[in-house]
Amino acid sequence: MRFDIITVLPSLLDSPFAHSILQRAQKKGLSEIHVHNLRDYATNKHKSVDDYPYGGGSGMVMQIEPFAACIEKLKSEHEYDEIIYMTPDGITLNQSIANDLSTKGNIIILCGHYKGIDQRIRDVFVTREISIGDYVLSGGELPAAILVDAIVRLIPGVLSDETSALSDSFQDGLLDAPIYTRPAEWRGHKVPDILLSGNEAKINAWRDEQQLQRTQERRPDLLHDE
Ligand code: ADE
Repeated sequence: MRFDIITVLPSLLDSPFAHSILQRAQKKGLSEIHVHNLRDYATNKHKSVDDYPYGGGSGMVMQIEPFAACIEKLKSEHEYDEIIYMTPDGITLNQSIANDLSTKGNIIILCGHYKGIDQRIRDVFVTREISIGDYVLSGGELPAAILVDAIVRLIPGVLSDETSALSDSFQDGLLDAPIYTRPAEWRGHKVPDILLSGNEAKINAWRDEQQLQRTQERRPDLLHDE
């Protein structure tokens, strides 16, 4: 699976993809992540990619031409299933969106800055608009890194234990049960006896019950969603 991320701050994305699971996925050839500097596609001598908003108002707007040039170059070289714009007014990312996107081939991700991007880029090129939550960040780079992380770990073969993505919180619509490792007792705090019992059926029943209880307490909305 190939990701092409278009940004004015490519160096912001150096680190998130260079560690752990995302790094391993690229080494194994299961995902390719290419970061493109929007300024390389600027058409003026100052290499600026933004301009004042028509109609006035505060903040700058990212212009059409550099995005169009970069997207069209990429599209002339590869087929893309989705062109995603990271924006706080998009659909909020959740596990089912990540699952769906993990079945795609190639994806372009646009990162906005300043006030946002010219509406016509959204109208003409973008197939999905995704937010990572109801708060405003200074740019789309961190949201793009989060989206790529959520997708790549679901690609078959990326996680060493194939089942571990399936048992994540949210994958069955519930939060995870509490987990423990050694020591069995720390400063008087004990691991629940059931987990030390060796009785797999009882442990599974306990975990199911804990998942339901946690979800009821912390995220009742998950139980009422379809
Ligand atoms: N860009 C700025 N804030 C964002 C958010 N919450 N989600 C996605 N992209 C963004």
